[in-house]
Amino acid sequence: MSAGSSHVPVLLHEAVALLAPAAGGLYLDATFGGGGYAANILDGAACTLWAIDRDPAAIARGAALAARHPGRLHLIEGGFGDLLSLLSQRGVTALDGAVFDLGVSSFQIDDPARGFSFRHDGPLDMRMAGTGATAADLVNQLDETELADILYQLGEERLSRRIARAIVAARRGAPIETTQRLADIVRGVVPKDKSGIDPATRSFQALRIKVNDELGQIARALEDAARLLRPGGRLVVVSFHSLEDRLVKRFMTQASGRAPAPSRHDPRGLTAREDAGFELLTPRALRPGAAEAAANPRARSARLRAMRRRPPGIPGPEIRP
Ligand SMILES: C[S@@+](CC[C@H](N)C(=O)[O-])C[C@H]1O[C@@H](n2cnc3c(N)ncnc32)[C@H](O)[C@@H]1O
Repeated sequence: MSAGSSHVPVLLHEAVALLAPAAGGLYLDATFGGGGYAANILDGAACTLWAIDRDPAAIARGAALAARHPGRLHLIEGGFGDLLSLLSQRGVTALDGAVFDLGVSSFQIDDPARGFSFRHDGPLDMRMAGTGATAADLVNQLDETELADILYQLGEERLSRRIARAIVAARRGAPIETTQRLADIVRGVVPKDKSGIDPATRSFQALRIKVNDELGQIARALEDAARLLRPGGRLVVVSFHSLEDRLVKRFMTQASGRAPAPSRHDPRGLTAREDAGFELLTPRALRPGAAEAAANPRARSARLRAMRRRPPGIPGPEIRP
């Protein structure tokens, strides 16, 4: 980790307010990270918190917080895509709430040795858990079409074919081993646009998502966390890019019985079925306020969505004709 690195949690108060931890409750923080959400949850209510992170460094950092709350914080190293088995192995089969704060922490992105960032030179790694194929393995081994598809699908990069061609040409000379070399290859073929966003941003995002199977993990985890929720239990998710948010939105829309309208003028659109098991707590995604976005650049793309399992006997919202 780079000296003095820390992680400023995004939408912390909004996320914990929607989770609404209560004394005696059992909660899951599926993305422990720097423990900012966890500390707030533990300070706010005399509850028990299970916390997962696939990064061994995050789990190690959590020991101090666990010591401050004896018997109340239980840390688990693993992927949240396996949360059902990780929790059931420890006797946890129901939850009063689960919170996900997706993506990478500042501890990870600011550490050149982890290879997540095009701003620092380091090995082209990007593995949150430190196991499996690295980003360097992908850029040096996949064929041009596979690379282009990853950049297009997971980075929404319009110039994916051009970048893939440049990567394959560059690696013929020598394998691409560092973040700077990859960033320079991408910058060499993607012109800067008016947004000021680095041309390598989308390619790095795509590779990170692929290396960590981020979308597969999220899809499994949302299903499983929702299944564990007790009546009244809440699921709260903060996402940082449109592919994540699309998955979360679709999942919560369906779980709450809201069908997307065939047309946006159709009055049946976004009405809730009375028998749906969940209700949306955020009909529209919450975004950070101007002050948070100004103070924390990571916050700018954040979106928070939440739903809760309907308590028994409470009917859903009225169905519009
Ligand atoms: C944005 S940070 C969370 C920050 C945390 N809420 C805080 O307040 O400090 C995301 C964390 O989730 C972890 N993570 C991301 N995907 C994961 C997955 N599939 N399984 C487990 N942990 C994951 C990352 O390793 C990282 O530490």
